[in-house]
Amino acid sequence: KPITIIGMPMDLGQGRRGVDMGPSAIRYASAQALLQKLGYEVEDLGDLHVPSPESKSAGDPKLKYLNEIRDVCEKLAETVSGVIARDRFPLVLGGDHSMAIGTIAGAAAQYENMGVIWYDAHGDLNTGETSPSGNIHGMSLAVSLGIGHPDLVNIGGFAPKVRPEHTVIIGARELDPGERDLIGQLGIKVFTMHEIDRLGMARVMEEAIGIVSNGTDGVHLSLDLDGLDPKDAPGVGTPVPGGVTYRESHLAMEMLAEAGIVTSAEFVEVNPILDRENQTAKVAVALMGSVFGQKVL
Ligand code: ARG
Ligand code: MN
Ligand code: MN
Ligand code: MN
Repeated sequence: KPITIIGMPMDLGQGRRGVDMGPSAIRYASAQALLQKLGYEVEDLGDLHVPSPESKSAGDPKLKYLNEIRDVCEKLAETVSGVIARDRFPLVLGGDHSMAIGTIAGAAAQYENMGVIWYDAHGDLNTGETSPSGNIHGMSLAVSLGIGHPDLVNIGGFAPKVRPEHTVIIGARELDPGERDLIGQLGIKVFTMHEIDRLGMARVMEEAIGIVSNGTDGVHLSLDLDGLDPKDAPGVGTPVPGGVTYRESHLAMEMLAEAGIVTSAEFVEVNPILDRENQTAKVAVALMGSVFGQKVL
């Protein structure tokens, strides 16, 4: 399918400046040229407007910038849904992970029974009540599952967007107590670093692909660069040591490409201010290459 790039300079969902420049950094790392080289027709819609945190008050400390995030996620959802309706593949560049609320709402408006791959060091399964930070980027998967503040849960006018049995988390190594409880309650399949080390990424991806494609009509890939080890992807706001390697991540993306199941994707949490020579954006683009079918031979 032809690809549509959407930039989401979102930084309201977390506390560190610079992640709003993620989309520029990823473009600067030649995302579009690589995809064209792979034979895709690519259009870039540019960035959606996100108000700057200085111009707004954070509001409720348990749900910082709730109203602003709701409004920009509504807009992102409309945009993503429109792109899929034109029979194109939406590729969203971020931006902090709160944007996934919008991306998933838009994709789920078109794919009624969608699977989600959440590639992340974190679960992003907090609510306003369980979050230690009040940062909405730590709540976006819960919201997509229908759990959390109604203003976020009901974006796009329907909820939930995805079901726990069609959701997998890959790379988790830092979960808050409320997130662990929710995983137990919902029965979400989580491949922590323990499973990746023990089974190997190939086996993990075989199982993950089975889960997200069983009875679904689309699969969204939400790739938080902090899922990778900070040695490979240092430019992220909430790094956690002991992460997925560059090579394991390429294998994971290549297996998704071979399975041919992914219908939308986002690459998030790239923060060039915390990066070294744009390394993290370059990793994002390299992984994009693999998801879109790049091969050595
Ligand atoms: N669990 C922590 C929180 O709720 C960290 C979340 C990090 N999320 C992310 N998308 N990087 O604040
Ligand atoms: Mn994360
Ligand atoms: Mn099913
Ligand atoms: Mn995340």
